[in-house]
Amino acid sequence: MSQTVQLIIDNKTYELPVITGTEDEKAIDISKLRDLTGYVTLDIGYKNTGATKSAITFLDGEVGILKYRGYPIEQLAGQSSFLEVAYLLIYGALPSKDQIKDFQAKINHHTLIHEDMKKFFDGFPSNSHPMGQLTALISSLSAFYPESLNSVQSKEDVDLTIIKLLAKMTTIVSWIYKKSLGHPVIYPQNKYDYVTNYLHMTFGQRTEDVVIDPVVVDAMNVLLILHADHEQNCSTSTVRIVGSSEANLYSSVSAGISALWGPLHGGANQAVIEMLEKIKADGGDTDKWIAKAKDKNDPFRLMGFGHRVYKNFDPRAKIIKKACDDILEKLGIDDEVLEIAKRLEEVALKDPYFIERKLYPNVDFYSGIIYRALGFPTEMFTVLFALGRLPGWIAQWKEMKENKEPIGRPRQIYVGAVDQDYVDIEKR
Ligand code: SDX
Repeated sequence: MSQTVQLIIDNKTYELPVITGTEDEKAIDISKLRDLTGYVTLDIGYKNTGATKSAITFLDGEVGILKYRGYPIEQLAGQSSFLEVAYLLIYGALPSKDQIKDFQAKINHHTLIHEDMKKFFDGFPSNSHPMGQLTALISSLSAFYPESLNSVQSKEDVDLTIIKLLAKMTTIVSWIYKKSLGHPVIYPQNKYDYVTNYLHMTFGQRTEDVVIDPVVVDAMNVLLILHADHEQNCSTSTVRIVGSSEANLYSSVSAGISALWGPLHGGANQAVIEMLEKIKADGGDTDKWIAKAKDKNDPFRLMGFGHRVYKNFDPRAKIIKKACDDILEKLGIDDEVLEIAKRLEEVALKDPYFIERKLYPNVDFYSGIIYRALGFPTEMFTVLFALGRLPGWIAQWKEMKENKEPIGRPRQIYVGAVDQDYVDIEKR
């Protein structure tokens, strides 16, 4: 017997259906509310509003659980590879040996980008932010691969576009980095797996064969897995709503990259390192900066802390924090900002302000420390977040299309001027 709830408006009782998810989450289905009552709901920031039913990622913010297609993030980060997790998110099941081999081969076949795209790279000012470049370059892929624009997308069209986007993202991201250094770009090599190929194009040199440290490959796989999806966050919701207008995958993902750029979202990983560096330059007085974060008259926020849905430890932050110590030790790096980050976490988690508001370290708090240890400049951190989130955006866009969801178009409550008559400019 399906569950319902009652809503009483002007002494009239309405029955609304309740939806229960496979992890026992409950929702009131209000899809008929306006037809029934003339009312809409208002939920600025969608803090209480579900936008869809999804089978891709489940998270429980109160307990700190994150699962991709039912698999706990701890198991995937500890035992899987980023390409295997990408396959799992996009196609819904862990691949067999033959399937992952075929997936890797298809991707390797498409890692080159059209040589004319180099003109775009040359057009950007050398100090332009990598996220602005990435947004433009990903959207430009639709100009070179018109099958993505077919109004009726066959399964083959969609699969080819997905493979091309996964493949070319690594080349574009690594070339943005090389261009920022004024270095010649490095071309992909089919002998490498997905992550190693990306690192080869990023840290490789034209003049000699650079051996990519397996420690770096393993760390990159873990970081990319941890960023791969996170249900209906700001950038993923952007990808879904842009895709709901039947815009192509490249432009939908480009819009997601723009949303991710903001410092309240993916841009936080860059903001965390800049914050830690500022605290270090200021003498490392963490108490002073915690006080600033609590002061309502001070715009300073503890970047990398707090989360819209996690009201407990972000499970990804736990894994990254542990990986920080391992990787810095293996690479023989002693980074003072790691100690500052640990002190900030220790002080904040004992402070009533943070405890009352359930503010914990999120995925961005420690990730920048590892990216820096791996050799990436700060401005590349959010691009690396986008590289990791790409399979999640693709999976969510694909699910929205397969479910034939309608174009997204929220309602509003109008609070502006009423009954205005036009006045000629001479009389204003
Ligand atoms: C990501 O959604 C996702 O899943 C995102 C993500 C993903 O994988 O896609 O997990 C990735 O975006 C992680 C979040 C990265 N952003 C940051 O680290 C930026 C710093 N954090 C915040 O600005 C904030 O916590 C948000 C944006 C993450 C969440 O903001 P909310 O849910 O809108 O909460 P809020 O701003 O209303 O804060 C509630 C209270 C407020 O105090 P009061 O008005 O109740 O007194 O907590 C305070 C806030 O001032 N607060 C902070 C704080 N975060 C919240 N105070 C100091 N420092 C902070 N970092």
